Amino acid sequence: MRKKIVAGNWKMNTTVAEGVELAKNIVAKLGEVPNDVNLIIAPPFTHLVSVGNVIKGTKIALSAQNCADEAKGAYTGEVAVSMLKDAGCAYTILGHSERRQYYGETSAKLVNKIKLALESGIKPIFCVGEKLEERNAGNHFKVVGTQLSEVLSEVTAEDMLNIVIAYEPVWAIGTGVTATSAQAQEIHAFIRKFVADKFGAEVAEETVILYGGSCKPSNAKELFACKDIDGGLIGGAALKADDFIGIAISY
Ligand code: PGA
Repeated sequence: MRKKIVAGNWKMNTTVAEGVELAKNIVAKLGEVPNDVNLIIAPPFTHLVSVGNVIKGTKIALSAQNCADEAKGAYTGEVAVSMLKDAGCAYTILGHSERRQYYGETSAKLVNKIKLALESGIKPIFCVGEKLEERNAGNHFKVVGTQLSEVLSEVTAEDMLNIVIAYEPVWAIGTGVTATSAQAQEIHAFIRKFVADKFGAEVAEETVILYGGSCKPSNAKELFACKDIDGGLIGGAALKADDFIGIAISY
């Protein structure tokens, strides 16, 4: 049985005090979440230790939103994955479309980041997804296939067992427009087939593939019911404990 995961990407939101409060509110409602649904929260770097202290001993795992593509040294402004491990992270989001779009994140950089993360025992949540014009041109499979192959051709089957994939169509992120469950399922099935072709059926069966893009309590149930959707990467709705938990209990 694959893991079910609901992950909250807080992006560049909340003060430390607000983040701690949000984490406390999520912890207070954990009793409502089914045992087999795993939760992850990804606050900003500055919040990791404080938020980590709130969720310590609970079933919520801590994630970062990015990491450096070098191990350590003279890289002003960067945060090494070993530092994330030290701060208590079990995961880091990598390759989010906002990083690709605004910060020049390339597949080559992502390969370095993913390898460094895996070496440190941090599980990457590797994001892929097409832009609106790419979908409208009918190129969504091609775009996602290229994003997958440029990065995953550099990892082993054993590595793959520690990588979570998130399919996030750029046109659905923060827009209120969600992919229909049929649109999401067909790409998720395509991603799983990609993993099967490259690493074998057993690895593909174990690979967790999350959907992200305007996921909320009202649409989560239908999305999570799809065969190849193993949970969600949640942005806006992860900033409200009720909504985040509402999504987790939709499973
Ligand atoms: P959204 O963001 O839920 O606000 O659309 C998802 C994401 O970017 O991870």
